[in-house]
Amino acid sequence: MAHPALEKSRVHRRLNRIVGKLEGITFRDLYETYPTFDIQVETEKALLAQHDLVIFQHPFYWYSGPALLKQWQDLVLEHGWAYGTNGTALKGKYLMNAISTGGPYNAYQLDGHHQHTLQQFLLPFEQTAKLCNMIYLPPFAVTGAHRMTDAEIDVYATQYKQLLEYLQNSPFDLNTVKKLDTLNHLLKTLPQAK
Ligand SMILES: Cc1cc2nc3c(=O)[nH]c(=O)nc-3n(C[C@H](O)[C@H](O)[C@H](O)COP(=O)(O)O)c2cc1C
Repeated sequence: MAHPALEKSRVHRRLNRIVGKLEGITFRDLYETYPTFDIQVETEKALLAQHDLVIFQHPFYWYSGPALLKQWQDLVLEHGWAYGTNGTALKGKYLMNAISTGGPYNAYQLDGHHQHTLQQFLLPFEQTAKLCNMIYLPPFAVTGAHRMTDAEIDVYATQYKQLLEYLQNSPFDLNTVKKLDTLNHLLKTLPQAK
């Protein structure tokens, strides 16, 4: 989880409360752990090795992630470890983004305000995953955060919890999942992204 101003956050503070309590999930607050951007690469690599699914949970900043998340990728995803010849440490693991956006879901369409879909903006993450021989999943997205009430954000937080439990416990068909715009659509019984 990377959020440079968690004290002002409405979305991620709520998501964090949920993730922090779930069994089998390691919650890691990058800005709290590395306030001076001095990322401990070996610690991060050891943690990655222990997990099957890596989630980059962050607010969408300038159509991407906050700076520390980029620093984390630049330092931790080393050649010869994450990619390149003999770089197979992450092979077969899953990667996804869990993002919040100020803009509403319909602004992230080809004919919408931002003129591209969320998946298109997330392409550098997707291709990074592919280069590392990881399987990239569609994002979980809390969209339209600016106009959402706290109660509406709480609905997304519950949805996030259900999604994480689903990914942990239920075998899913990758071909079906990969076709989804967002993982919010995975569980039909849950409210869809706005
Ligand atoms: C520096 C900065 C850049 C942002 N860039 C975007 C953006 O590109 N697209 C968007 O929809 N919202 C953007 N936003 C809005 C945030 O994504 C939004 O406030 C955040 O996801 C809400 O989550 P929070 O309550 O946990 O902070 C930006 C906000 C900041 C501060």
